[in-house]
Amino acid sequence: MKFQAPKGTHDILPGESERWAWLEVRLREILARYGYREVRTPMFESTDLFVRSVGEATDIVRKELYTFEDKGGRSLTLRPEGTAPLVRAFLEHSLGHGQPMARLYYIGAMFRYERPQAGRFRQFWQVGAELLGPGGPAADGEMIDLFVAIMRGVGLADPTVLLNSLGDATCRPAYKERIRDYFGKHLDSLCGDCKERFRTNPLRILDCKVPSCQPILAGAPAMLDSLCDPCREHFQGVQAALRALAIPYEIAPRLVRGLDYYTRTVFEVHSGTLGSQNAVGGGGRYDLLVEEFGGPSVPAIGFSIGLERLLIAAGEAAPGAGGPDVCVLSRSPEATLEALALARELRGLPAPGAGGSEERGLVVLADVTGRSAGAQMKWASKMSARYVVFAPPDPDGYPVRNMEAGTDEPKQKTAAALRAWLLERVKKGERAQKGEHAR
Ligand code: HAM
Repeated sequence: MKFQAPKGTHDILPGESERWAWLEVRLREILARYGYREVRTPMFESTDLFVRSVGEATDIVRKELYTFEDKGGRSLTLRPEGTAPLVRAFLEHSLGHGQPMARLYYIGAMFRYERPQAGRFRQFWQVGAELLGPGGPAADGEMIDLFVAIMRGVGLADPTVLLNSLGDATCRPAYKERIRDYFGKHLDSLCGDCKERFRTNPLRILDCKVPSCQPILAGAPAMLDSLCDPCREHFQGVQAALRALAIPYEIAPRLVRGLDYYTRTVFEVHSGTLGSQNAVGGGGRYDLLVEEFGGPSVPAIGFSIGLERLLIAAGEAAPGAGGPDVCVLSRSPEATLEALALARELRGLPAPGAGGSEERGLVVLADVTGRSAGAQMKWASKMSARYVVFAPPDPDGYPVRNMEAGTDEPKQKTAAALRAWLLERVKKGERAQKGEHAR
């Protein structure tokens, strides 16, 4: 019996996991600088939470939920997205209490039963930021600015920001009627999916990518022509904010997004490196959701970014794994435990009875196989270690091999002296490397 990861999921293996760790550190750093604080919600929630927020007519709720009944007979669903759980937590713990603005974020796995393809999975990761409280366009400006800061922070210089407005409860119903009338007249020429959307969620027809539907879509009325005055003013305000922040954007009148909770602003950010699944992330305003969950009237806006896609787009900017600073080899099988103890001392972590400091950790690997010295040396070289040291020491000190230069370094009398010497050399090497990058 051979097991494989479930369809649409992927393991993140050494080599790749370092890039993920790098990305998460980078994301947290950028979010913290904007004042966003993390919320970790459960991976599953009551099914109703998603049906009521994402929307009964959406593909996510109709086809993609991982729903199950637990042993207590409750209907639960693996979260397909992070906004509804965050709003639930915001209300449950009164996170907005006495505050004009709550800035919150999450990083976690999401689950959607989708047809897997490049950049599309059944378990995938998102980072999401949500700003609850302010309803004016400056908040939309901050959100899109934060999105772009994240893209730049991971090495993507020129993301494309697509912007639209979906109106609100005043102007959208009339627009929906116009759209329904229009597509009703062209129903025969639409693709099978669009025919179904016509029944369930006509706005989503605007999002169809099938070539034969395009001429019909091109003639469809645009939401932007149907906005009520307050929504038009808001949309203009968002554009003014983006201009003030020098963020280039394109108006995308057919951008509708796949979740029902949006009001007014919606946006997506695309990157050319992603091919057909080229939305790195998206978001928008959801001014009615908090109220719909039984809370007060709290306007809000947010976005989510798919981490798999962000990493593909980041490419080389996300560093892979480097080799260890030091490999400790034993000169005989009997010396293996001595090598182990020396490796521990060189790492500089607090050790039983040995004190130790944590000023800068050397990454130190010991060979614990008891193999020949030659085989250990081959291993150290394959691991791309910077230095190799040998235990036990010679009478005049520990021999040190500089693996990058292929030369022997001066022997070091004690383990403490060896550690100090290695630390200095490694730091110097890092400084030199940084200098090179700066050039
Ligand atoms: P979404 O557009 O459904 O929005 O998802 C945001 C991003 O998550 C996508 O642009 C994509 O990068 C990634 N993503 C979605 N589905 C998959 C998948 N099957 N495989 C890989 N990546 C995927 C939301 O989820 C909203 N909660 C965004 C939001 C936050 N709106 C307001 N606040």
